[in-house]
Amino acid sequence: MRFDGKRILITGASRGIGRALALQLAAEGAEVLALARGSKALDDLPEGIERLACDLTDSRARTALIAGLQGQRLDGVINNAGIQITADFANGTADAQDIEQELAVNLTAPMHLAAGLLPVLACSPGSFLVNVTSGLALAPKRQAPVYCASKAGLRSFTRALRYQAEDAGLRVRIIDCVMVLAATQMTAGRGRGKISPNAAAALLDGAAAGKSEIWVGQMKLLRLIHRLSPALAARILRG
Ligand SMILES: NC(=O)c1ccc[n+]([C@@H]2O[C@H](COP(=O)([O-])OP(=O)(O)OC[C@H]3O[C@@H](n4cnc5c(N)ncnc54)[C@H](OP(=O)(O)O)[C@@H]3O)[C@@H](O)[C@H]2O)c1
Repeated sequence: MRFDGKRILITGASRGIGRALALQLAAEGAEVLALARGSKALDDLPEGIERLACDLTDSRARTALIAGLQGQRLDGVINNAGIQITADFANGTADAQDIEQELAVNLTAPMHLAAGLLPVLACSPGSFLVNVTSGLALAPKRQAPVYCASKAGLRSFTRALRYQAEDAGLRVRIIDCVMVLAATQMTAGRGRGKISPNAAAALLDGAAAGKSEIWVGQMKLLRLIHRLSPALAARILRG
């Protein structure tokens, strides 16, 4: 089993893609640390999965989480938690608090966790850090400008972090997982052709195979289209 005995932190594990990943990892014998804000959904995860209640918009809570993990063994971190808020800047209804919250969960938190946990991961040979991005990191959709900006920023951050880890000789793989459209609470009432969040298990296949970029499902086709014609990819994603 690929993740047997590995100790892996996964954020946003109470539902959707994060939950599917947590269950798959646990089934493979991993020691899973499942993080979300703390809810019945988090409590309802099967026995044996450790629950961590932490609001990732709260920098003090993030600092406490990181402090609590110092000196412990950690073989993987999956920055999966994310939120998407529809915002229309053109009609003046974009909300400053929403913007801050969306950037905090989607971008600041993965950066903060990378800063605090990369040294911990570096103590476990063969460890990895995955940031979950989106096809919308390549080109935005009209309805969610902040979400798209956060995912584009996270993709860029992930690549720069990989350069730093490589140049420093850290034995931590830094992975960008470009996630496919999946039927979760985030996408309720949005999008077509959604697949089961269980398809996100491709993230684990990619991590086990040593990939630094994982394109899940149809995202492989999007990558090809974007390579051939960024303008066409932008038209497809625009919404
Ligand atoms: N679904 C898709 O089609 C799709 C496509 C591309 C990329 N993605 C990305 O995949 C990831 C997972 O998305 P999903 O669709 O599974 O979303 P989801 O079903 O809405 O789940 C989001 C998770 O993030 C957690 N979360 C939200 N705010 C948080 C906070 N302040 N602090 C801690 N945890 C918080 C939620 O837990 P609580 O609410 O219990 O705290 C929940 O576990 C996200 O990064 C998303 O951007 C999704």
